[in-house]
Amino acid sequence: MTTNRTPLIAGNWKMNGAETESVALARAVAEGAPGGCELLVCPPAVLIPPVAAVLKGSGVAVGGQDCHFAEGGAHTGDIAAAMLADVGCSHVILGHSERRADHGESDELVRSKTEAAHAAGLVAIVCVGETLAERDGGETLARISSQIEGSLPAAATAENTVIAYEPVWAIGTGRTASPADVEEVHTHIRGDIERRFGAGVAGGIRILYGGSMKPSNAVELLAINGVDGGLIGGASLKAEEFLTIARSCS
Ligand code: 13P
Repeated sequence: MTTNRTPLIAGNWKMNGAETESVALARAVAEGAPGGCELLVCPPAVLIPPVAAVLKGSGVAVGGQDCHFAEGGAHTGDIAAAMLADVGCSHVILGHSERRADHGESDELVRSKTEAAHAAGLVAIVCVGETLAERDGGETLARISSQIEGSLPAAATAENTVIAYEPVWAIGTGRTASPADVEEVHTHIRGDIERRFGAGVAGGIRILYGGSMKPSNAVELLAINGVDGGLIGGASLKAEEFLTIARSCS
């Protein structure tokens, strides 16, 4: 990664953890944080306040895993972007494949959530990725392009948006895409961004890889041209694994 883009290593804790262990995990991440990359943890919503409290001033950022597109109102069970910002979040993951699958989230919905995140001053981490059937059918790049086109609002910039490429078949399966496949998709995404938003945005926006990233493969994945960090699930639940991945950035 020989670019001027600062790598971002983000932990998506998904629906895991309880308060005591999550606070301990966050504290261990903060204590071991290496230089050379930005670190972010995204706990389940109810654990954001205690995790944000322990990370305050540490340099490790906190993010949500989803938000609603509306500013507030009658949306039982949902959380507004401004509420995340209010409890200390700087980022929010949007359009994760698990939300697209479990909650039927469309590109259009993800775009409106991304707009809400931006309005609240949050950096949106917008996830895209193909299924195994799409990859086997030779539709990967077309699928990624349509997700990028549909999920990113016109006002996306390199400062307010991060893209995460997560092949659905590589999430939680132990399988990772080959370095050549990852480089092809990342290059393709950056080309799409350049055509729509211009060279400045394309050169500055960070594109993360996610899907079974772990200490044993992080050096190889993070060295791929166009990979600007990782969005890590399972391995982000163990401080030493997450920190080993973070140290692989340099
Ligand atoms: P795993 O690292 O567990 O494969 O999860 C990746 C992911 O979905 C991160 O958002």
